[in-house]
Amino acid sequence: MSVNILGIESSCDDTSAAVISDGCLRSNVIASQKVHEAYGGVVPELASRAHQQNIVPVVSEALRQAGIDKSEVTAIAFTRGPGLLGSLLVGTSFAKGMAVGLDIPLVDVNHLHAHILSHFIRKQPEDPVPDFPFMCLLVSGGNSQIVVARSPYDMEIVGKTIDDAAGEAFDKCAKVMGLPYPGGPHIDRLAAVGNPKAFRFSKPHIPGLDYSFSGLKTSFLYTLRDNLREDPDFIRNNEADLAASLQATIIDILMDKLGQALDRYPVEHIAIGGGVSANSGVRDAVADFCRRKGVRAWIPERAFTTDNAAMVAAAGYFKYLSNQFCDLSLPPYSRVTV
Ligand code: KG4
Repeated sequence: MSVNILGIESSCDDTSAAVISDGCLRSNVIASQKVHEAYGGVVPELASRAHQQNIVPVVSEALRQAGIDKSEVTAIAFTRGPGLLGSLLVGTSFAKGMAVGLDIPLVDVNHLHAHILSHFIRKQPEDPVPDFPFMCLLVSGGNSQIVVARSPYDMEIVGKTIDDAAGEAFDKCAKVMGLPYPGGPHIDRLAAVGNPKAFRFSKPHIPGLDYSFSGLKTSFLYTLRDNLREDPDFIRNNEADLAASLQATIIDILMDKLGQALDRYPVEHIAIGGGVSANSGVRDAVADFCRRKGVRAWIPERAFTTDNAAMVAAAGYFKYLSNQFCDLSLPPYSRVTV
């Protein structure tokens, strides 16, 4: 009989459900919430309400696309944290209710581990996956970390942001340029036709492998403020160059620490994950870096960079195979506690 893992993701503003059968992806349904665009950021209250509306149809559709009935689900894997508590509560409660109703095991998944383990989403059994240990540059709207993954359950954060995440730097700078939320993809698009050397923004001097992006944000803001005094149309006239220079600076900051991390933790495989790993410049820079270092690069499909339940089901499958089940009394957590 097949092992069918139903994955459920609801940590932020995407409601997603996926089915992995015997280790291979059968469906991955994502309902993104457009309601936040008007507010320039995710509104937690609206996010949890939208999850309530979406979760039943999204799970039903994931089962339908996978071609299985709910009675054929072997175990349910759900994102327990970190994320927005109200959002997490919806997925957690739904997963618990369904597991109790079907009398099947429940597996809790750390959202950040799931991003890292997204490289284990196989479409065919023979699809290649990274070898442990590998290093992952995990860059999203809420996190910027360098993680050494020694096994699916043994992950060490060797560097992390001390203030803003890389995605926040993209989004906040895009916001002051008047671009829609989330700004990262807009910066990416504009950067493709801009000059990355047109403007210089300050880079942090943080010891060790930690990141900082708040200084860059301020430097970007001051550049706009100073130039707007001379030219009220400065942003419109320099949109592509501003985007390209911002993106290049963020990539320099990310790659500098990744290089130091590889010196300290020599591994043969380097992966990227999280929403910012969809960025064309980041993908090219990591691929190029790995080529020069003779290390194998793992660049995820764009569909698996932003929040999705396929990665939750993939991470849950590892835990299922090693009998790591979750007690029904466990609550979600908003910050990283495990
Ligand atoms: O992982 P994610 O979907 O959500 C969490 O934060 O957990 O990441 C969202 C972030 C946003 O900051 C968004 O602007 C950024 O990923 N992002 C990008 C691109 N696509 C998404 N940033 C730069 N370039 C992109 N193409």
